[in-house]
Amino acid sequence: MFSPASPQAQSIARLWWWMCGVGGLIWLAVIAVMFYTVRSARGRRGPDDLQHVATPTHKRLERIVAGAVFGTILVLVGFLIYDFGVGRALAQHPSRALTIELIGHQWWWEVQYDDPDPSKRLVTANEIHIPTGQPVQFKLSSTDVIHSFWVPNLNGKRDLIPGYTSSHWITADTPGVYRGQCAEFCGLQHAKMALDIIAEPPDQFRAWMARSSQPNTPPVDSVALSGQRVFLTAGCSTCHTIGGTAAQATVGPSLTHLKSRPWIAAGTLRNTRANLEGWIVNPQAFKPGTHMPSIPFQPRELTALLAYLETLK
Ligand code: CUA
Repeated sequence: MFSPASPQAQSIARLWWWMCGVGGLIWLAVIAVMFYTVRSARGRRGPDDLQHVATPTHKRLERIVAGAVFGTILVLVGFLIYDFGVGRALAQHPSRALTIELIGHQWWWEVQYDDPDPSKRLVTANEIHIPTGQPVQFKLSSTDVIHSFWVPNLNGKRDLIPGYTSSHWITADTPGVYRGQCAEFCGLQHAKMALDIIAEPPDQFRAWMARSSQPNTPPVDSVALSGQRVFLTAGCSTCHTIGGTAAQATVGPSLTHLKSRPWIAAGTLRNTRANLEGWIVNPQAFKPGTHMPSIPFQPRELTALLAYLETLK
């Protein structure tokens, strides 16, 4: 959040720096007063001395306390007004370039790019490409419990609430990969519910969009082909979608273009063949509690399945 990459994050960071600065000055003032008090109290240990000083300083002390209370109220009201101003600015609805539905699941993110033509809706998982310099609206919801969408470089937190759709805006100024994290405790694997926002120049974004909207090229070699059969018959397809095949289930993340994503299991593991194999064989070892079941594959089936998944570029 200290390196904001959007106007939204910038206004939050600015508010934070003001709070830190003013709070820091107040802290320094309190410490200074404490040292002053300790210093001036030294050397008057006797009861006579105490009586001497207590009476004349009492009025002054009252004035100091009243002044400090007034100052505190002033600072708090000032920040309250500033904070409302920032909140209002974040809730502004500029003309939108793009609407993305972000749906929280235990423990991964479903991403759907809105399109007037439902057949052209692009669905992916745990990775959100957005164009830079354009306001993007996120429509947030959840299928199970409350999650929270937080990409500190780009905006503040926003909850994903079951049965309720809320809205969030991001305008990324600078191209880059921004890590996001679920920020509301949502069960055992809350910590392993990460996502990446990839902000890229509009032409690159359009190219990604066009590429991702195409179904995968069907496998050609015999091992990958038998892997596809394994995928479609052994149970994988009861949860996952792979574009251009009969697998169209939406319980788990879409695996169309799986290999174009750098992570699997919502930021838990790098998307390498070895990790993919480990994840398929024993998902509970990496993410205890995950809803991904482990299917007892024969070694040959597993090799074929991995060969097929490797083709989903
Ligand atoms: Cu989802 Cu925490």
